[in-house]
Order: sequence, then C-alpha cells, then structure tokens
Amino acid sequence: MRGPLAAALLALAACARGTGAAPPARESRTPDAGQPPLGLPAVPVPADDPMTVEKVELGRLLYYDRRLATQWHSSCADCHPPDHGYAGREPTMGFHRNSPTVFNRAYGHWEFWDGSAGQSLEDLVAGVLRFVEWRAKTPYWERLAAIPGYRTAFERAFGRGPDQENVVQAIATYCRTILAGDSPYDRWVAGDRGALSAEAQRGRELFFGKAGCASCHSGPNFTDEQFHDIGIGQDDPERRFYAPDPRDKPEFPELGRFNVTHRIEDRGAFKTPTLRELLETAPYMHDGSFTSLDEVVEYYARGGIGGTAGLGVDPRIRPLGLTADEKRDLVAFLRSLSANRPPPPAPALPPG
Ligand code: HEC
Ligand code: HEC
Repeated sequence: MRGPLAAALLALAACARGTGAAPPARESRTPDAGQPPLGLPAVPVPADDPMTVEKVELGRLLYYDRRLATQWHSSCADCHPPDHGYAGREPTMGFHRNSPTVFNRAYGHWEFWDGSAGQSLEDLVAGVLRFVEWRAKTPYWERLAAIPGYRTAFERAFGRGPDQENVVQAIATYCRTILAGDSPYDRWVAGDRGALSAEAQRGRELFFGKAGCASCHSGPNFTDEQFHDIGIGQDDPERRFYAPDPRDKPEFPELGRFNVTHRIEDRGAFKTPTLRELLETAPYMHDGSFTSLDEVVEYYARGGIGGTAGLGVDPRIRPLGLTADEKRDLVAFLRSLSANRPPPPAPALPPG
C-alpha cells in the first residue's frame, strides 16, 4: 500500500498547481490516479509546499539519514521506525515522552503530545531538525550540500541545492505520504461483512456507544486532535505533580498542554492520539506506560486513576461497568483498526 500509494498521491498534487487565483493556505486535493487508503479523506497539502514525486523521494532518503543529526545520531526512522508503525519502541529523549506514530499526521492540527511543535508538519520538522543538530558546527543544509548525491536530488526536486527551508519541505512532504487506512474495520464499513469478527462488531458498538471512546477518538483518524487530561502518570508518586498551582513547577513535563498555554485547566492534558495501527505502535500513552491494549482498556474500564486522584481528569474517564467479555470485545475492535502491513524497505542513501 505505502509505496504505490505515495506514487499515486503525487499524481494528484502535481496537477493541482498553477490555477491563477491565490489558493487558500491549505487545500484538500482528492487523488484521482490513486485514492488515499480506504477510510481516509483526501490529504490536505499546504499551497506553499506542494507535493511532487521528486520531493517525496528525497524526503524519504532524509527520513532514514542519520547524518542530519549531530545529537543522538538518530534518524527520523530510528525514533519512528517503519517496522514499528512509525512510532517509538520506548520513551526517548530523556523526558519520558514516547515517540508518537507518524502515520496520518498529514491530517493533524497540532504536533507533539502537548501541541508545542506547531500546527503543521513543516513546523514540526523545522523544530526537530533544530533539536537534533543542537550545537552542530555546520548547519544541516550545508552538511547535505557536501554530499554529491543530495546535491543532485535537491536540484531535481527544487531546482536548487539544499537550504534551510527545502530540507524541511522534503521531509514534511514525505511524512504526508505515510498513511494508515484500509484496515479490517474500514473494509467492514465499506460493506465487506466478513471483515470484522462478531467480537469486534460488538466492540464497535461499545466504542461508539456505552464506552464513550468516540467522543475523543473521533473521525477517520480516531482523534479530535484536542488535548484532554485522562490521568496518565498522575498516580505515580515519582512523577505526579502535587503542586496545587503547577506554575510553581513549570518545567515538569507531565503538565502536558499546560506547558504551552499556562492555563490551569490544561494541566495534565495531552493530545488524543490516533488509534490506527495500534498492533504495531506499543507502548501506549505519552509516557509509554501501557504495553498492551488489554491494559489500556482495563484502565479506561476502571475509570482511570479514580475521580479524586487526578487534578483535572476529564469527567468522561469514569468506571464504565464493562464485563470481562465486553472488555475483550473492545480490544478486538481496537485490533481491527490495524492494517498491519509490512513496512517498505529502507532506501539506499547517497554515499559521502
Ligand atoms: C531522538 C528521537 C527522535 C528523533 C531523531 C525524531 N523524533 Fe519525532 N518525536 C520524538 C518524540 C519523543 C516525539 C514526541 C515529543 C513530544 O510530544 O513531546 C516526537 C514527535 C514527532 C511527531 C509528532 C506526532 C504527533 O502526533 O504529535 C512527528 C510527526 C515526528 N516526531 C516526526 C519526526 C521526523 C520527521 C523526524 C526526523 C526529522 C523525527 N521525528 C525525529 C522522537 C524523535
Ligand atoms: C476524554 C477524551 C478521551 C476518551 C473519552 C477516551 N480517550 Fe483514549 N486517549 C485520550 C487521550 C488524551 C490519550 C493520550 C493520553 C496520554 O498519553 O496522556 C488517549 C490514549 C488512548 C490510547 C493510546 C494510544 C497510543 O497510541 O498511545 C488508546 C489505545 C485509547 N486512548 C483508547 C481509548 C478507548 C478504547 C476509549 C474508550 C474506552 C478511550 N480511549 C476514551 C483521550 C480519550
């Protein structure tokens, strides 16, 4: 799906340029040569960073290239490995945050668990590059310009060598082609009645009904892209923020969205993640505190950490009164949101 799909997506973007009137900041373009995977809408592409085949191919190389980083010597693919659903294998970066999946960030509104990395993939990539090349003697675009294979690839994609902006655009554009859909659930919605087990179908009813999951995990990507406090990490005495006013401890990362807005009601709030490809992306939650979907469902079923323990836990996190069978059904439904396809092979990087 992922390779041919990328090619198909490009067809769409190539023909959408050059239409006289100034385009809106973000346009939705329906791929005609190829649809996005079943269950997903057209990919929004910013007017000032259109999608082209050359850009995607270049961005794919950069995604795997450790030479971009001077810190950690990690590529995007090291922290968001394609064979692990483009998500972290464990929390990284020394501050307890789990790398979220890159799948379907093309549809996102806020980047990072607390929204601190901006509102577009371009913002995000620019921020990440500043971070991974912290204290670099030579900036990343100059280091890339010293590699002949990259000089050629940038010329092909942009008509000029690497610079601060076009490196970001190539990687962001490639990320827009990392899409997850066409799961058993999508096929079931499209009419294939054999695609979901009876268990998963019952789980679907719970998800959209009594268990109340869809009020936050909504839409085709199963996220409202909003921030909510569901209590994660707050029952751990090591990490829980006891300060009555978190402004006393603004550096504490588990304050989540509060660190960005400084609004009391945002303390402990994190962005609702997608529920697609969960079979590949464990561990779960911003701190990677759960390793299985059974644990996640158990957490929600019992009402999280319990009403009074959290400081501002969302009232929807309350005991759900699910039977053991119902919990199994809910897990079966979550599993059905994964297509779980083999990842594309890593590309051969330009030598130098
Ligand atoms: C050292 C590991 C590391 C490297 C290298 C890295 N990331 Fe991340 N990435 C993370 C972590 C951890 C987060 C979550 C940070 C947070 O929310 O506070 C993250 C967040 C993201 C997100 C936001 C997802 C969301 O739902 O908000 C995207 C997209 C992303 N990274 C893509 C990339 C790309 C593209 C690169 C290469 C330019 C890259 N990352 C390099 C660890 C890494
Ligand atoms: C009030 C909004 C809200 C409701 C209701 C809700 N969730 Fe969540 N969900 C979130 C947020 C926010 C996170 C991330 C929290 C964190 O990391 O601190 C999350 C995380 C998850 C994750 C982890 C995904 C990952 O990749 O880390 C799963 C799985 C999940 N929810 C499933 C469910 C299920 C099943 C239900 C119904 C029983 C449900 N959620 C109800 C907001 C909600």
